[in-house]
Amino acid sequence: MPGFRVALLGTQFMGRVHSHAFRTVASFFPVDPPEMAVLCGQDAQRTAAQAAKFGWEEASTDWREVIARKDIDLVDVCTPGDSHAEIAIAALKAGKHVICEKPLANTVAQAKQMAAAAKKAGTVTLTAYNYRRAPAVAHAKRMIERGDLGRIYHFRARYLQDWILDPNFPLVWRLRKEVAGSGPHGDLNAHITDMARYLVGEIAEVCGMTKTFIRKRPLPAGEGELGRRGSKKGAAMGEVTVEDASLFLARFENGALGSFEATRFAAGRKNHHTWEINGEKGTLCWDLERLNELQWYSTEDAPTERGFRTILCTEAGHPYAGAWWPAGHMLGYEHTFTHEILDVVTAIAKGTKAQPDFEDGLRTQQVLEAAMRSAETKKWISVPR
Ligand SMILES: NC(=O)c1ccc[n+]([C@@H]2O[C@H](COP(=O)([O-])OP(=O)(O)OC[C@H]3O[C@@H](n4cnc5c(N)ncnc54)[C@H](O)[C@@H]3O)[C@@H](O)[C@H]2O)c1
Repeated sequence: MPGFRVALLGTQFMGRVHSHAFRTVASFFPVDPPEMAVLCGQDAQRTAAQAAKFGWEEASTDWREVIARKDIDLVDVCTPGDSHAEIAIAALKAGKHVICEKPLANTVAQAKQMAAAAKKAGTVTLTAYNYRRAPAVAHAKRMIERGDLGRIYHFRARYLQDWILDPNFPLVWRLRKEVAGSGPHGDLNAHITDMARYLVGEIAEVCGMTKTFIRKRPLPAGEGELGRRGSKKGAAMGEVTVEDASLFLARFENGALGSFEATRFAAGRKNHHTWEINGEKGTLCWDLERLNELQWYSTEDAPTERGFRTILCTEAGHPYAGAWWPAGHMLGYEHTFTHEILDVVTAIAKGTKAQPDFEDGLRTQQVLEAAMRSAETKKWISVPR
């Protein structure tokens, strides 16, 4: 699709990662390079500097004006959750294809409006759950679909971090409900919920609990652009309005049992995103910090030869891997985003859907909201269908 033009909103973490993906996708996969037209941010100087660094033609601080432009085909929303619905719906109404970072929205009500707008627009949408696109995860999906695990009994996932362990860590946007919607629940449980739905199936009911360990934190130094920034010594304190940890149990529609744990208080755990699936014919495990590998134990091996084996998912036959380096030359975090952009660009070119689309992102949001309601009411909650 020569002349396919993109606008990206958000200039920091995800803005940088997605920019990298747009820049590299056509160097490795057989697609026309998307034209990186406009980077949108809040601060003019910083946005211009980031746009130049990341390879965008222009910078803007007016996303409404950018979305209204006829020369933009795809809008990529990499801002905090409080702005996702407004921006994505405006972009869909303008007939654009839309990528939206996870979680799709801060509430199910917003996510429903987004899914409805996507249906009406009929354009390609993607909720950016990037971890589906690690070659090892996509290969795990193949193994499960092929029946290698047989009936699935358990899905057990943890997403653990430790970046706010220090009580003096400032009250950044991720700790404010009005911006982030929730804490590690919408940030980390969102990822493992999407993973569970992708690999195992739909979730029928949930039972959750949450905890806020540190209730007040210093306000960040300078409240301009929101981010993980330092606080001044002796800074005024503010209320933490999200949970610090969130755990829930789940029953899948297919009868499997699930457990999910997300926290920012696991000392030493930087980005410990792991899952394990126990099936009647074996166990399959993945760990983001060793993202090219699957651990596989098969009950069909001879009893004397059984044990976990490592499948290194860098062979040409593994999903996405063949486009990159020779086998054993490892891929990283950023490649999952390149694959995401590849799948969106391909869906647009072929007139197909990308997954997970906004409808799919809404389903994950429904699971998350049910788990949060369960934590509040101390009851099992059915996930609406
Ligand atoms: N897929 C992943 O692995 C992953 C990882 C981190 C964050 N995320 C998601 O990406 C999104 C952004 O997170 P981040 O880490 O990049 O945040 P960040 O703080 O690093 O950057 C946020 C950017 O959004 C801009 N922004 C904030 N509010 C805005 C508004 N109302 N209008 C226009 N621009 C606005 C800020 O100026 C900044 O440039 C969040 O939804 C987050 O959950 C996903």
